Amino acid sequence: MHHTEIITLLQTEPSIHEINVKGWVRSFRSNRFIALNDGSTIKNLQCVVDFEKVDEEILKKITTGAAVSVTGVLVESQGQGQSVEVQVSEIEILGEANPEDVKLTILSPKRHTLEKLREQAHLRVRTNTFGAVMRIRSKLAFAVHEYFQKNGFYYMHAPIITGSDAEGAGEMFRVSSLDPKNPPLDEKGNVNYKEDFFEKETNLTVSGQLEAETYAMGLGKVYTFGPTFRAENSNTSRHLAEFWMIEPEIAFCDLAGNMDLAEDFIKYIINYALNHCADDLEFLENRLLEEEKSKPQAERSDMVLRDKLKFIIDNNFKRVSYTEAIDILKRSKPNQKKKFKYIIEEWGADLQSEHERFLVEKHFKCPVILFDYPAKIKAFYMRLNEDGKTVRAMDVLFPGIGEIVGGSQREERYDVLKQKITEMGIDEKELWWYLELRKFGTAVHSGFGLGFERMVQFVTGMGNIRDVIPYPRTPGNAEF
Ligand code: 4AD
Ligand code: MG
Repeated sequence: MHHTEIITLLQTEPSIHEINVKGWVRSFRSNRFIALNDGSTIKNLQCVVDFEKVDEEILKKITTGAAVSVTGVLVESQGQGQSVEVQVSEIEILGEANPEDVKLTILSPKRHTLEKLREQAHLRVRTNTFGAVMRIRSKLAFAVHEYFQKNGFYYMHAPIITGSDAEGAGEMFRVSSLDPKNPPLDEKGNVNYKEDFFEKETNLTVSGQLEAETYAMGLGKVYTFGPTFRAENSNTSRHLAEFWMIEPEIAFCDLAGNMDLAEDFIKYIINYALNHCADDLEFLENRLLEEEKSKPQAERSDMVLRDKLKFIIDNNFKRVSYTEAIDILKRSKPNQKKKFKYIIEEWGADLQSEHERFLVEKHFKCPVILFDYPAKIKAFYMRLNEDGKTVRAMDVLFPGIGEIVGGSQREERYDVLKQKITEMGIDEKELWWYLELRKFGTAVHSGFGLGFERMVQFVTGMGNIRDVIPYPRTPGNAEF
């Protein structure tokens, strides 16, 4: 018999027709009530067993974690919190789970810390928290595609293996077919990459932007959405070595248009989550409310998950130039300044995440788009402003997260770009194709990158980025 998912059954009227459902036992009470979950929803389906009619051997095997197939009829539920339940006529154990072994895992029914769950990343999706987060992650990914596809963008697959460093930050994972212990050497004693698979040095992509730019200059509006790699040694709750980035790139669009797009896009996907992930968001919100309760009254936040999401949708992002932001930071009260690890003294300094979060959480109290940064602290490809010292960069800063988007209008002038590349000591030979775009029908164009995991963090309220991706890659961590 074909099985039906729990999410569907919970919306089905009771009837005399038999249904079949398959899932994992969350709990089995009084030799009678199975709480069954199949991952389709956070909700469990109650299955009521008549123990007198079931073989004792089978009863013993209905244990937490076991996979079972249940056949029966849907009846109106007597219990609270559910409309229907299954009156079981037949139960089959598909995969046993030995209770003694289960006790040693995170499947055992008690509260486990998120750290503990990370150690069993292969099992954690079976917990309520991770089921909720990963369903939301999937829905958000769909919303990303829906937004761009509805708005005339084409999905462009940027390469994973590249020969360039798009961000010029040198934070790359090398890709090589050479024996690291015994690489071929050239006459000067350097590694001879001519003998490598690609006959040159290559790395995993740090951004699909440069390739996306070439496609925007042919398809008009494109977006990438793929894995991105950074070998930065940042052990924080916001950084991964492997993360997913969404990068739209638009021809004939300036920085103002880029900001409009970022704001509209972010609001769209957050709204999508509110409309399509109600049960999971409710669960995660309750989880956060519990956490809030353990804090002293003064530190409790007045907005919990769904209110925060609605706030983003209902309010304009505040657009502030870098120069204005520096002034605000310089003018901030002495007791606030004392809290900063780095005090911003002068124009030109790079903002640390503590400053970004101050601007968003304390000063403006809403998302902020900072723009027109000093050229010196931003990547080579950004459009130089007429003042000769700032570039048309933009960062979207979010409460609780900090930077969620980085983007810019791109330098479309051949000579200016070439000079910038030389000044920044970048090998022009690696970027000949990128420069050439500026020779053949160059045009104003812009784009940005949204860190998908940071968005999933914001929507789910999870504090650590390691808990919003199935298998996090961080320094020293690639166990699974
Ligand atoms: O600001 P970034 O480095 O910008 C770029 O890569 C541009 N090429 C994007 C573009 O204009 N097309 O990265 C963009 C975003 C950040 O704002 C952040 O959300 C995310 O990517 N990000 C990371 N997320 C998780 N772990 C990391 N190590 C990240 N590094 C960047
Ligand atoms: Mg950035």
